[in-house]
Amino acid sequence: MTINKHILLGVSGGIAAYKSAELVRLLRKQGAEVRVVMTQSAMQFISPLTFQSLSGNPVHSELLDADAENAMGHISLARWADLLIIAPATANLIAKLSHGLADDLLSTLYLAATCPVYVAPAMNQAMWNKAVTQENIEKIRRHSVRVIGPEQGDQACGETGFGRMSEPTGICSFLAQALEDQTPAAAPCLHGLKVLISAGPTREPLDPVRYITNRSSGKMGYALAKAALNAGAEVTLVSGPVALAAPANIEVVNVETAAQMHEAVMSRAPDHAIYIGAAAVADYSPAIMQPEKIKKQDEQTTIILQKTKDILAEVARLDKRPFTVGFAAETHNLEAYARDKLARKKLDMIAANWVGRELGGFDSEQNALHVFWENGGETLEMTDKTRLAEQLISLIAGRINTPLNKKGE
Ligand code: C5P
Repeated sequence: MTINKHILLGVSGGIAAYKSAELVRLLRKQGAEVRVVMTQSAMQFISPLTFQSLSGNPVHSELLDADAENAMGHISLARWADLLIIAPATANLIAKLSHGLADDLLSTLYLAATCPVYVAPAMNQAMWNKAVTQENIEKIRRHSVRVIGPEQGDQACGETGFGRMSEPTGICSFLAQALEDQTPAAAPCLHGLKVLISAGPTREPLDPVRYITNRSSGKMGYALAKAALNAGAEVTLVSGPVALAAPANIEVVNVETAAQMHEAVMSRAPDHAIYIGAAAVADYSPAIMQPEKIKKQDEQTTIILQKTKDILAEVARLDKRPFTVGFAAETHNLEAYARDKLARKKLDMIAANWVGRELGGFDSEQNALHVFWENGGETLEMTDKTRLAEQLISLIAGRINTPLNKKGE
């Protein structure tokens, strides 16, 4: 099997680090380009020079190194990778991954990575069996990290049990197989269609300096816009205030308030084939925006809120309506509430996710979606928002191409 991919190898501080030198050699032999990132403690076990010689690339270890950031910063490094494999992954490193800590280059790269991530744990058998380690492993598995090994046998410390890192040959064939299994990118399936997407939060002003908003990052809507573009669509993105760069080749209409989003969407929706309402539109906005800064006075104060217009429901009620997809963030009874929203707002599809739980959702890199339509549905497992968006766009493309939804029928 050949591996013509960019592989980022993370090495953390365990005695098994010496085996990773062989892993670099094997990966390169199969055609991979390899870059190595070492933690400080890994460098106590094996010299960066070994990895530099074997990979043919400089080794990365510093998060806050101006020279390294100039050459290839941590974000470019994360984007460069087609796959991140951490071998050996120590108990400490796994704990950091499971909690999203980013206090060194390797843990930061994990957070920044959008590619598939693999870890090959290596540690003493008692450390591996410790409940907290098992919980951490379970948690990163739920975050779509694939765990290779560990194996059973004699350990460097003299004990016997599970905790030995898998052999480099085993890791290498596991990765080669996984890369082969990866489904190829979805073929363009929205070719020539106009897609309108709303994303991000809205800001509802109370006075010239204050507003009510929510934690939406806009990541899901932006990922959907890019996935629709890659599927061949002409995309317009109506965006609330977010900290994301405007995607290339997509028309971005920036708005702040729910009322502005309403106007921007309603004026465009009739000539679009698909509308995806991924924005977290405020349900209420202050009834009056005070023209001057509100003064601090009484112990308690009251703000009167007025319901905003439901953009999604209005789009779905248009005579010339696009295929309309809504989102639903629920804390309980997910399917019942989502299906109720689907019917009540007369949507074609609704993508629901849990909020207020440990994982995913608002302001997170990852999410899982439960997608419903009349008489059907599908679950999209927890993964990063880029992949999730591709899967949702494929589902939408599949549904608009069913005879029932074909234009003119
Ligand atoms: O009813 P709920 O707010 O939970 O529905 C969420 C869906 O409705 C999302 O797709 C959101 O973009 C959309 N929505 C809207 N206009 C509003 C409130 C929500 O388009 N004012």
